[in-house]
Amino acid sequence: MATRKTKGKIPATLIPGDGIGPEITEAVIQVLDALGAPFAWDRQVGGMAAVHAEGDPAPKALLDSITRNKLALKGPLTTPVGGGYRSINVRLRETFGLYANLRPVRTLVPGGRYEGIDIVLFRENLEGLYVAWEHYVAIGDDPRAVAVSSGINTRAGSRRIAEYAFDWAVKHGRKKVTIVHKANVLKALTGLFLETARDVAKRYEKKIAFDDRIVDACAMQLVLNPHQFDVIVTTNLFGDILSDQLAGLVGGLGMAPGANIGPDAAIFEAVHGSAPDIAGKGIANPLALLLASGLMLEHVGHDALAARLTKAIDLVLNKDLVRTRDLGGKATTTDFTRALIKRVK
Ligand code: NAI
Ligand code: MG
Repeated sequence: MATRKTKGKIPATLIPGDGIGPEITEAVIQVLDALGAPFAWDRQVGGMAAVHAEGDPAPKALLDSITRNKLALKGPLTTPVGGGYRSINVRLRETFGLYANLRPVRTLVPGGRYEGIDIVLFRENLEGLYVAWEHYVAIGDDPRAVAVSSGINTRAGSRRIAEYAFDWAVKHGRKKVTIVHKANVLKALTGLFLETARDVAKRYEKKIAFDDRIVDACAMQLVLNPHQFDVIVTTNLFGDILSDQLAGLVGGLGMAPGANIGPDAAIFEAVHGSAPDIAGKGIANPLALLLASGLMLEHVGHDALAARLTKAIDLVLNKDLVRTRDLGGKATTTDFTRALIKRVK
């Protein structure tokens, strides 16, 4: 029901998340408020916070909220390593069919390892080894003597992520799409992805260039000469690994936003996790989640607000020289947030 406060606003689910999640989410909300971003937030708990509050990492109220709003901003959610519950991030992507994971990186602070980085990675978000069809085989008295995992790539799934990436690249005036795979060894699993993505690329031949790379060579070339890359499209696990590497080219995980997009919903988040090592210390960089909220503004057609946000971020980092510790500065999360609020007003 629209109240006076929410009238004309865009309803969106807000998941503060675990670890540094609540700190960076609070920072982002304050900046978005100062910017005048028209979101009516519906706060929900998920992940470890929801396990503690409701005994379920993905409570029904959270899923209902995303179903209703089709739009969410999500802090990082902690997933136990090894045993424990399945990743809620993966579950949310599957539940809402969020097949495209957009992960752009840009140099925001000059003087780092590389200048002028501007690379956009599209990661297939539902298939590959992330289906986690895993089991153990017992030998003798060892019940876990052998571990088996099956990856699944489908032609339909490969086609739609490739089409999404090529479409996006053409619409955004990019120059080239690189298809990344390991089809020399995983000839079926990633061979099908390569074959299908190449078929899609041929349909776009007149509009945009394409090439392909084997993932390990790609990882090395990203370090030697990242400027040869423009848009990358790849399978789930490779996309996960390469997007952290891309973050490393522009100053680290504090700088890398992501969008999980499907036909029925979109969830915006940082590439990084809940950073338990710095949680509660007030030093986390909220920039990755803030950049994700910029992608969210663009997604709902508020490009002008997104552009104002980008401008404010640039001024704070490079004119005011307010930077968090991960970027070599001294600012706390609160210092950085205050500086941004001044610049977006
Ligand atoms: P992580 O990304 O949380 O942290 C890796 C390193 O980067 C740590 O040293 C951390 O302090 C630093 N870092 C991350 N974000 C930062 C920020 N905003 N500002 C300053 N420094 C930052 O990765 P880790 O430690 O492997 O995972 C921790 C938890 O997060 C795990 O439970 C994992 O499953 C979960 N995770 C959740 C994700 C999500 O919700 N989308 C994505 C990745 C991991
Ligand atoms: Mg990751």
